[in-house]
Amino acid sequence: MKPVTIGLLGLGTVGQGVANILTRNAAEIERRTGRSIRLTRAAVRNKAKAEALNLGIDITTDAQSLVSDPDIDIVCEAMGGDDPALSLLHSAIANGKHVITANKALIAVHGNELFRAASEKGVTIAFESAVAGGIPIIKALREGLTANRIEWLVGIINGTGNFILSEMAEKGRTFDDVLAEAQELGYAEADPTFDVEGIDAAHKLAIMASVAFGMPLQFDAVYTEGISQITREDVEFAEELGYRIKHLGVARRRKEGVELRVHPTLIPERRLLANVNGVMNAIVVHGDAVGPTLYYGAGAGSEPTGSAMVADIIDAVRCLDADPAHRVPTLAFQPDALTPHVMLDT
Ligand code: NDP
Ligand code: HSE
Repeated sequence: MKPVTIGLLGLGTVGQGVANILTRNAAEIERRTGRSIRLTRAAVRNKAKAEALNLGIDITTDAQSLVSDPDIDIVCEAMGGDDPALSLLHSAIANGKHVITANKALIAVHGNELFRAASEKGVTIAFESAVAGGIPIIKALREGLTANRIEWLVGIINGTGNFILSEMAEKGRTFDDVLAEAQELGYAEADPTFDVEGIDAAHKLAIMASVAFGMPLQFDAVYTEGISQITREDVEFAEELGYRIKHLGVARRRKEGVELRVHPTLIPERRLLANVNGVMNAIVVHGDAVGPTLYYGAGAGSEPTGSAMVADIIDAVRCLDADPAHRVPTLAFQPDALTPHVMLDT
Protein backbone atom coordinates (compact mmCIF):
# COMPACT_ATOMS: atom_id res chain seq x y z
CA MET A 1 0.00 0.00 0.00
CA LYS A 2 1.20 3.54 -0.78
CA PRO A 3 2.88 5.32 2.17
CA VAL A 4 0.91 8.05 3.93
CA THR A 5 2.65 11.38 3.45
CA ILE A 6 2.92 14.11 6.07
CA GLY A 7 3.61 17.79 5.52
CA LEU A 8 4.74 19.81 8.56
CA LEU A 9 4.10 23.52 8.94
CA GLY A 10 6.93 24.51 11.30
CA LEU A 11 10.04 22.62 12.29
CA GLY A 12 10.85 24.12 15.68
CA THR A 13 10.51 22.52 19.13
CA VAL A 14 7.31 20.60 18.33
CA GLY A 15 7.99 19.94 14.64
CA GLN A 16 11.38 18.40 15.43
CA GLY A 17 9.80 16.21 18.11
CA VAL A 18 7.34 14.91 15.51
CA ALA A 19 10.13 14.28 12.98
CA ASN A 20 12.25 12.40 15.55
CA ILE A 21 9.40 10.15 16.70
CA LEU A 22 8.23 9.34 13.17
CA THR A 23 11.79 8.31 12.29
CA ARG A 24 12.73 6.46 15.47
CA ASN A 25 9.45 4.56 15.86
CA ALA A 26 8.69 4.10 12.16
CA ALA A 27 8.65 0.30 12.26
CA GLU A 28 6.45 0.14 15.36
CA ILE A 29 4.00 2.70 13.96
CA GLU A 30 3.82 0.82 10.66
CA ARG A 31 3.05 -2.40 12.53
CA ARG A 32 0.25 -0.65 14.42
CA THR A 33 -1.36 1.10 11.47
CA GLY A 34 -0.54 -1.26 8.64
CA ARG A 35 0.73 1.78 6.72
CA SER A 36 4.14 3.33 6.26
CA ILE A 37 4.06 7.00 7.32
CA ARG A 38 6.56 9.39 5.74
CA LEU A 39 7.34 12.96 6.64
CA THR A 40 8.16 14.34 3.21
CA ARG A 41 7.98 18.16 3.43
CA ALA A 42 8.25 20.95 5.99
CA ALA A 43 7.59 24.68 5.66
CA VAL A 44 9.66 27.18 7.67
CA ARG A 45 10.85 30.77 7.44
CA ASN A 46 14.58 30.06 7.70
CA LYS A 47 15.38 27.36 5.16
CA ALA A 48 19.10 27.07 5.95
CA LYS A 49 18.43 26.47 9.66
CA ALA A 50 15.93 23.70 8.88
CA GLU A 51 18.14 22.09 6.22
CA ALA A 52 20.95 21.91 8.78
CA LEU A 53 18.82 19.36 10.67
CA ASN A 54 19.53 16.90 7.84
CA LEU A 55 16.13 15.23 7.96
CA GLY A 56 16.26 14.22 4.32
CA ILE A 57 12.94 15.93 3.53
CA ASP A 58 11.99 18.79 1.26
CA ILE A 59 12.22 22.13 3.09
CA THR A 60 10.26 25.03 1.68
CA THR A 61 9.52 28.62 2.64
CA ASP A 62 6.34 28.44 0.56
CA ALA A 63 3.87 27.07 3.12
CA GLN A 64 0.95 27.59 0.72
CA SER A 65 2.52 25.17 -1.76
CA LEU A 66 2.72 22.54 0.98
CA VAL A 67 -0.96 22.72 1.92
CA SER A 68 -2.00 22.44 -1.73
CA ASP A 69 0.52 19.72 -2.60
CA PRO A 70 -1.47 16.78 -4.01
CA ASP A 71 1.23 14.41 -2.72
CA ILE A 72 0.59 15.36 0.94
CA ASP A 73 -2.16 13.42 2.75
CA ILE A 74 -1.99 14.96 6.22
CA VAL A 75 -0.96 18.49 7.21
CA CYS A 76 0.46 19.05 10.72
CA GLU A 77 0.66 22.62 11.94
CA ALA A 78 3.35 23.44 14.51
CA MET A 79 4.21 27.01 13.52
CA GLY A 80 2.03 28.88 16.01
CA GLY A 81 0.28 32.25 15.77
CA ASP A 82 -2.86 33.25 13.89
CA ASP A 83 -1.47 34.43 10.63
CA PRO A 84 -0.68 32.64 8.34
CA ALA A 85 -1.55 29.48 10.34
CA LEU A 86 -5.33 30.02 10.14
CA SER A 87 -5.46 30.62 6.40
CA LEU A 88 -3.08 27.71 5.80
CA LEU A 89 -5.31 25.33 7.77
CA HIS A 90 -8.37 26.56 5.88
CA SER A 91 -6.52 25.95 2.59
CA ALA A 92 -5.41 22.49 3.73
CA ILE A 93 -9.02 21.61 4.62
CA ALA A 94 -10.33 23.04 1.34
CA ASN A 95 -7.77 20.82 -0.41
CA GLY A 96 -9.19 17.76 1.37
CA LYS A 97 -6.28 17.22 3.77
CA HIS A 98 -6.72 15.84 7.25
CA VAL A 99 -5.36 18.49 9.59
CA ILE A 100 -3.55 18.25 12.92
CA THR A 101 -2.48 21.23 15.00
CA ALA A 102 -0.61 21.96 18.25
CA ASN A 103 -1.81 25.56 18.08
CA LYS A 104 -4.15 26.03 21.07
CA ALA A 105 -4.47 29.77 20.46
CA LEU A 106 -5.82 29.03 17.00
CA ILE A 107 -8.19 26.25 18.11
CA ALA A 108 -9.47 28.18 21.15
CA VAL A 109 -10.29 31.29 19.12
CA HIS A 110 -11.01 29.96 15.61
CA GLY A 111 -11.81 26.30 16.32
CA ASN A 112 -15.57 26.60 15.79
CA GLU A 113 -15.09 27.84 12.22
CA LEU A 114 -12.30 25.31 11.53
CA PHE A 115 -14.41 22.39 12.80
CA ARG A 116 -17.30 23.50 10.65
CA ALA A 117 -15.08 23.77 7.55
CA ALA A 118 -13.54 20.34 8.26
CA SER A 119 -16.94 18.77 8.81
CA GLU A 120 -18.31 20.19 5.56
CA LYS A 121 -15.30 18.88 3.67
CA GLY A 122 -15.43 15.46 5.39
CA VAL A 123 -11.91 15.67 6.79
CA THR A 124 -10.74 15.46 10.39
CA ILE A 125 -9.08 18.09 12.52
CA ALA A 126 -7.20 16.89 15.59
CA PHE A 127 -5.52 18.84 18.38
CA GLU A 128 -4.35 16.49 21.14
CA SER A 129 -0.94 18.21 21.22
CA ALA A 130 -2.59 21.60 21.81
CA VAL A 131 -3.56 20.72 25.40
CA ALA A 132 -1.23 19.58 28.20
CA GLY A 133 1.70 18.51 25.99
CA GLY A 134 2.10 14.74 26.06
CA ILE A 135 -0.92 13.92 28.24
CA PRO A 136 -3.65 12.28 26.10
CA ILE A 137 -6.34 14.36 27.78
CA ILE A 138 -8.48 15.01 24.70
CA LYS A 139 -8.64 11.28 24.00
CA ALA A 140 -9.46 10.60 27.66
CA LEU A 141 -12.29 13.13 27.65
CA ARG A 142 -13.69 12.09 24.30
CA GLU A 143 -13.17 8.35 24.41
CA GLY A 144 -12.20 6.96 27.83
CA LEU A 145 -14.80 9.00 29.72
CA THR A 146 -17.44 9.06 27.01
CA ALA A 147 -19.94 7.15 29.17
CA ASN A 148 -19.85 9.90 31.79
CA ARG A 149 -21.48 13.22 32.39
CA ILE A 150 -18.43 15.31 33.26
CA GLU A 151 -19.08 17.34 36.42
CA TRP A 152 -15.82 19.26 36.67
CA LEU A 153 -12.18 19.29 35.72
CA VAL A 154 -9.27 21.03 37.43
CA GLY A 155 -5.70 21.10 36.26
CA ILE A 156 -2.25 22.55 36.07
CA ILE A 157 -2.15 23.13 32.32
CA ASN A 158 0.74 25.48 31.63
CA GLY A 159 4.18 23.88 31.89
CA THR A 160 6.13 27.13 31.81
CA GLY A 161 4.09 28.64 34.64
CA ASN A 162 4.40 25.52 36.75
CA PHE A 163 8.14 25.36 36.10
CA ILE A 164 8.47 28.97 37.27
CA LEU A 165 6.39 28.47 40.45
CA SER A 166 8.18 25.19 41.31
CA GLU A 167 11.68 26.58 40.85
CA MET A 168 10.78 29.67 42.90
CA ALA A 169 9.47 27.44 45.70
CA GLU A 170 12.12 24.72 45.63
CA LYS A 171 15.27 26.66 44.76
CA GLY A 172 14.43 30.24 45.62
CA ARG A 173 15.08 31.35 42.03
CA THR A 174 13.65 34.57 40.63
CA PHE A 175 10.68 34.66 38.27
CA ASP A 176 12.67 36.20 35.39
CA ASP A 177 15.56 33.77 35.73
CA VAL A 178 13.28 30.71 35.49
CA LEU A 179 11.23 32.18 32.65
CA ALA A 180 14.46 32.68 30.66
CA GLU A 181 15.34 29.01 31.21
CA ALA A 182 11.83 27.90 30.16
CA GLN A 183 12.32 29.84 26.93
CA GLU A 184 15.70 28.19 26.33
CA LEU A 185 14.18 24.76 26.90
CA GLY A 186 11.48 25.47 24.32
CA TYR A 187 8.60 25.32 26.85
CA ALA A 188 7.42 28.92 26.54
CA GLU A 189 5.21 30.40 23.85
CA ALA A 190 6.76 32.68 21.21
CA ASP A 191 5.17 35.48 23.24
CA PRO A 192 5.75 34.36 26.86
CA THR A 193 3.08 36.74 28.19
CA PHE A 194 0.68 34.02 26.99
CA ASP A 195 2.22 31.71 29.61
CA VAL A 196 2.63 34.11 32.51
CA GLU A 197 -0.65 36.01 32.08
CA GLY A 198 -2.75 32.83 31.98
CA ILE A 199 -3.78 33.21 28.33
CA ASP A 200 -2.26 29.89 27.24
CA ALA A 201 -4.01 28.10 30.13
CA ALA A 202 -7.28 29.84 29.18
CA HIS A 203 -6.89 28.60 25.59
CA LYS A 204 -6.42 25.05 26.84
CA LEU A 205 -9.27 25.26 29.33
CA ALA A 206 -11.66 26.48 26.61
CA ILE A 207 -10.65 23.52 24.44
CA MET A 208 -11.01 20.91 27.19
CA ALA A 209 -14.37 22.36 28.26
CA SER A 210 -15.65 22.20 24.71
CA VAL A 211 -14.84 18.49 24.53
CA ALA A 212 -15.85 17.67 28.11
CA PHE A 213 -19.18 19.50 28.14
CA GLY A 214 -20.06 19.27 24.42
CA MET A 215 -20.29 23.02 23.99
CA PRO A 216 -18.82 25.45 21.48
CA LEU A 217 -15.40 26.93 22.18
CA GLN A 218 -15.85 30.02 24.32
CA PHE A 219 -12.40 31.42 25.04
CA ASP A 220 -13.80 34.88 25.81
CA ALA A 221 -15.86 33.43 28.66
CA VAL A 222 -12.78 32.26 30.60
CA TYR A 223 -11.91 34.36 33.66
CA THR A 224 -8.15 34.79 33.17
CA GLU A 225 -5.49 35.70 35.69
CA GLY A 226 -1.81 34.75 35.41
CA ILE A 227 1.20 34.40 37.69
CA SER A 228 3.13 37.50 36.67
CA GLN A 229 2.35 39.23 39.97
CA ILE A 230 3.53 36.31 42.14
CA THR A 231 6.75 37.12 43.97
CA ARG A 232 9.28 34.90 45.73
CA GLU A 233 7.94 36.32 49.02
CA ASP A 234 4.41 35.13 48.13
CA VAL A 235 5.75 31.66 47.46
CA GLU A 236 7.72 31.66 50.75
CA PHE A 237 4.73 32.90 52.82
CA ALA A 238 2.55 30.20 51.27
CA GLU A 239 5.14 27.55 52.20
CA GLU A 240 5.31 28.81 55.79
CA LEU A 241 1.54 28.39 56.05
CA GLY A 242 1.66 24.85 54.57
CA TYR A 243 0.48 25.75 51.06
CA ARG A 244 1.86 25.79 47.52
CA ILE A 245 0.85 28.35 44.94
CA LYS A 246 -0.26 26.65 41.72
CA HIS A 247 -1.83 28.07 38.59
CA LEU A 248 -5.05 26.17 37.96
CA GLY A 249 -7.60 25.90 35.20
CA VAL A 250 -11.08 25.06 36.48
CA ALA A 251 -14.20 24.12 34.50
CA ARG A 252 -17.28 23.21 36.51
CA ARG A 253 -20.83 22.40 35.53
CA ARG A 254 -23.28 24.66 37.36
CA LYS A 255 -27.04 25.09 37.21
CA GLU A 256 -26.54 28.27 35.21
CA GLY A 257 -24.01 26.80 32.78
CA VAL A 258 -20.29 26.06 32.85
CA GLU A 259 -17.94 28.10 34.99
CA LEU A 260 -14.52 28.63 33.37
CA ARG A 261 -11.55 30.19 35.17
CA VAL A 262 -7.76 30.17 35.33
CA HIS A 263 -5.85 31.79 38.20
CA PRO A 264 -3.22 31.17 40.88
CA THR A 265 -4.52 29.17 43.85
CA LEU A 266 -3.27 28.26 47.31
CA ILE A 267 -3.27 24.47 47.64
CA PRO A 268 -2.54 22.61 50.91
CA GLU A 269 0.87 20.96 50.47
CA ARG A 270 -0.41 17.41 51.09
CA ARG A 271 -2.78 17.55 48.09
CA LEU A 272 -1.83 15.84 44.83
CA LEU A 273 -1.85 18.94 42.65
CA ALA A 274 0.42 20.77 45.13
CA ASN A 275 3.09 18.16 44.36
CA VAL A 276 3.05 18.46 40.58
CA ASN A 277 6.32 20.24 39.84
CA GLY A 278 8.50 21.52 37.03
CA VAL A 279 7.12 21.29 33.50
CA MET A 280 4.70 18.55 34.51
CA ASN A 281 0.95 19.07 34.08
CA ALA A 282 -1.85 17.23 35.87
CA ILE A 283 -5.59 17.26 35.33
CA VAL A 284 -8.27 15.79 37.55
CA VAL A 285 -11.52 15.04 35.70
CA HIS A 286 -14.63 14.08 37.61
CA GLY A 287 -17.24 12.01 35.77
CA ASP A 288 -20.59 11.11 37.31
CA ALA A 289 -20.00 7.37 36.85
CA VAL A 290 -16.26 6.99 37.27
CA GLY A 291 -15.68 9.65 39.96
CA PRO A 292 -12.33 11.47 39.95
CA THR A 293 -9.62 10.44 37.47
CA LEU A 294 -6.10 11.84 37.24
CA TYR A 295 -3.91 12.50 34.19
CA TYR A 296 -0.25 13.43 34.68
CA GLY A 297 2.72 14.01 32.37
CA ALA A 298 5.02 16.49 30.67
CA GLY A 299 3.01 19.57 29.73
CA ALA A 300 5.47 20.96 27.18
CA GLY A 301 8.65 20.10 25.33
CA SER A 302 9.68 18.63 22.02
CA GLU A 303 9.04 14.89 22.21
CA PRO A 304 6.21 14.92 24.79
CA THR A 305 4.28 17.26 22.50
CA GLY A 306 5.49 15.34 19.46
CA SER A 307 4.10 12.17 21.07
CA ALA A 308 0.61 13.70 21.14
CA MET A 309 0.89 15.00 17.58
CA VAL A 310 2.08 11.64 16.23
CA ALA A 311 -0.83 9.95 18.07
CA ASP A 312 -3.15 12.27 16.12
CA ILE A 313 -1.31 11.38 12.90
CA ILE A 314 -1.89 7.68 13.64
CA ASP A 315 -5.60 8.33 14.28
CA ALA A 316 -5.83 10.28 11.03
CA VAL A 317 -4.09 7.45 9.14
CA ARG A 318 -6.66 5.04 10.55
CA CYS A 319 -9.38 7.41 9.28
CA LEU A 320 -7.94 7.71 5.78
CA ASP A 321 -9.67 4.64 4.42
CA ALA A 322 -12.68 4.86 6.72
CA ASP A 323 -16.19 5.90 5.85
CA PRO A 324 -16.58 9.62 6.88
CA ALA A 325 -19.27 8.54 9.37
CA HIS A 326 -16.57 6.73 11.31
CA ARG A 327 -14.24 9.70 11.50
CA VAL A 328 -16.02 11.43 14.37
CA PRO A 329 -13.43 10.57 17.06
CA THR A 330 -11.04 13.16 15.67
CA LEU A 331 -13.68 15.91 15.60
CA ALA A 332 -14.26 17.90 18.77
CA PHE A 333 -18.00 17.84 18.30
CA GLN A 334 -20.66 17.69 15.63
CA PRO A 335 -21.35 21.36 14.82
CA ASP A 336 -25.07 20.78 14.47
CA ALA A 337 -25.41 19.09 17.83
CA LEU A 338 -24.12 21.84 20.11
CA THR A 339 -25.65 22.48 23.47
CA PRO A 340 -25.47 26.18 24.20
CA HIS A 341 -24.29 26.94 27.72
CA VAL A 342 -24.77 30.14 29.64
CA MET A 343 -21.57 31.30 31.31
CA LEU A 344 -21.52 32.47 34.88
CA ASP A 345 -20.42 36.00 35.61
CA THR A 346 -16.97 35.75 37.19
P1 NDP B 1 8.98 27.18 17.57
O1 NDP B 1 9.14 28.65 17.58
O2 NDP B 1 10.01 26.34 18.20
O3 NDP B 1 8.84 26.70 16.04
C1 NDP B 1 8.01 27.35 15.13
C2 NDP B 1 8.32 26.82 13.74
O4 NDP B 1 7.38 27.38 12.83
C3 NDP B 1 9.69 27.18 13.23
O5 NDP B 1 10.22 26.15 12.42
C4 NDP B 1 9.42 28.43 12.38
O6 NDP B 1 10.34 28.59 11.32
C5 NDP B 1 8.06 28.06 11.79
N1 NDP B 1 7.28 29.24 11.43
C6 NDP B 1 6.78 30.19 12.25
N2 NDP B 1 6.11 31.11 11.55
C7 NDP B 1 6.19 30.74 10.25
C8 NDP B 1 5.69 31.27 9.04
N3 NDP B 1 5.01 32.42 9.01
N4 NDP B 1 5.95 30.61 7.88
C9 NDP B 1 6.67 29.46 7.89
N5 NDP B 1 7.16 28.90 9.02
C10 NDP B 1 6.93 29.52 10.18
O7 NDP B 1 7.54 26.88 18.17
P2 NDP B 1 7.06 25.59 18.95
O8 NDP B 1 7.44 24.38 18.20
O9 NDP B 1 7.45 25.70 20.38
O10 NDP B 1 5.47 25.79 18.93
C11 NDP B 1 4.72 25.59 17.75
C12 NDP B 1 3.24 25.48 18.11
O11 NDP B 1 3.07 24.41 19.02
C13 NDP B 1 2.66 26.72 18.82
O12 NDP B 1 1.34 26.87 18.41
C14 NDP B 1 2.71 26.33 20.30
O13 NDP B 1 1.71 26.98 21.06
C15 NDP B 1 2.41 24.85 20.21
N6 NDP B 1 2.89 24.04 21.32
C16 NDP B 1 4.17 24.15 21.77
C17 NDP B 1 4.63 23.35 22.77
C18 NDP B 1 6.03 23.42 23.27
O14 NDP B 1 6.35 22.71 24.24
N7 NDP B 1 6.89 24.20 22.67
C19 NDP B 1 3.74 22.37 23.41
C20 NDP B 1 2.41 22.32 22.86
C21 NDP B 1 2.00 23.13 21.85
P3 NDP B 1 11.72 29.40 11.56
O15 NDP B 1 12.44 28.70 12.68
O16 NDP B 1 12.40 29.26 10.25
O17 NDP B 1 11.33 30.81 11.93
N1 HSE C 1 3.89 27.20 26.53
C1 HSE C 1 3.13 26.03 26.79
C2 HSE C 1 3.35 25.59 28.22
C3 HSE C 1 3.54 24.93 25.85
O1 HSE C 1 4.36 26.01 28.80
O2 HSE C 1 2.55 24.85 28.76
C4 HSE C 1 2.69 23.69 25.99
O3 HSE C 1 1.38 23.92 25.59
